[in-house]
Amino acid sequence: MKEKNVNLNGKTVLITGAAGFIGSHLAARLFGEFKDIKVVGFDNVNDYYDVRLKEERLEKLSAYENFIFVKGDISDKAAVDEVFAKYKPAVVVNLAAQAGVRYSIENPGAYIEANVIGFYNILEACRHSDPKVEHLVYASSSSVYGGNTKLPFSTKDQVDHPLSLYAATKKSNELFAYSYSNLYGMATTGLRFFTVYGPMGRPDMALFLFADKLLRGETIQIFNYGNCKRDFTYVDDIVTGVVNVMQSTPDEDEKGNRYKVYNIGNHNPENLMDFVDILQKELVAHGVLPEDFDFEAHRELLPMQPGDVEATFADVDDLMRDFDFKPDTDLRDGIRNFVDWYAGYVKRRDNK
Ligand SMILES: NC(=O)c1ccc[n+]([C@@H]2O[C@H](COP(=O)([O-])OP(=O)(O)OC[C@H]3O[C@@H](n4cnc5c(N)ncnc54)[C@H](O)[C@@H]3O)[C@@H](O)[C@H]2O)c1
Repeated sequence: MKEKNVNLNGKTVLITGAAGFIGSHLAARLFGEFKDIKVVGFDNVNDYYDVRLKEERLEKLSAYENFIFVKGDISDKAAVDEVFAKYKPAVVVNLAAQAGVRYSIENPGAYIEANVIGFYNILEACRHSDPKVEHLVYASSSSVYGGNTKLPFSTKDQVDHPLSLYAATKKSNELFAYSYSNLYGMATTGLRFFTVYGPMGRPDMALFLFADKLLRGETIQIFNYGNCKRDFTYVDDIVTGVVNVMQSTPDEDEKGNRYKVYNIGNHNPENLMDFVDILQKELVAHGVLPEDFDFEAHRELLPMQPGDVEATFADVDDLMRDFDFKPDTDLRDGIRNFVDWYAGYVKRRDNK
């Protein structure tokens, strides 16, 4: 077990992407776990997906007295510098990014702006911070493993062949972070998240997307004819991983750099078809869909999509060794929790 050397009690934490799925869960958890912590949320609340969901997440966070929200874009250097100068965060968690693999095929520019220029601005702001930011934690992604076929994916594996620009920007974040650790002695930890799901999740990702389509009576599209395996990771587990990591800066490597990358994944890949079956059962159990809903008629099996990979599977040995923790939420429990939330959310959203 690694020693905790960053005490978050009484500190200010900056979370970029705080109106997002993972960021909003993380902010709420920090208030539950640490005394007198202040969380500054920074997010441009863009319309990549339904803005009302981001607003609902922010509304929930506004209940915490020590939550401060700043609307702004990480690709805007002046706005980033202003937040750092005003709030002097002790720890920064960079989750703001243009996410999504498929969207990056159509909209490459959005990825360069948010994930490359934006991340550079965060690095620069950390570098020039006074007092110094103690730890920069940032989101990378399992997509950096590209088409690697050696399973499980280990952080020791080569990741030089990203299959999408999204993956390339995430890998570039790791490279940028390494150089800043090396040049300026910054402590940086990158986290490769594996397919995150759960309540208040992302409408552009399979679970939410499939639920919405079925609710509207549309057909869900299942790629690679359903022969896909994903290491689905429950959001609470992701947040536990982030909170553990935030409190412990990386040990110096052989070159004296405080730089580290971890996988955070469930270490238990599930078949896409099983995932769909569980979702369908839960939608019926929660009364979102009628018992006689014809699921077979609402499924379309299609070939693989460009940029997609067949299987993801996280090696979490480092996480276990350093934090005695690995994600372990059962997919059935996680999907049930999602549908529990979704059933209420769609009533508000669709005014039914
Ligand atoms: N959800 C997953 O399965 C998953 C998997 C791997 C990596 N990640 C990474 O984790 C992080 C959080 O993902 P999420 O699922 O919560 O996504 P999300 O889209 O819900 O959250 C990202 C938030 O960042 C904001 N944002 C985007 N561009 C911005 C910019 N230029 N300036 C300021 N704010 C901006 C968005 O408005 C959004 O609220 C992202 O970096 C994502 O790439 C997520």
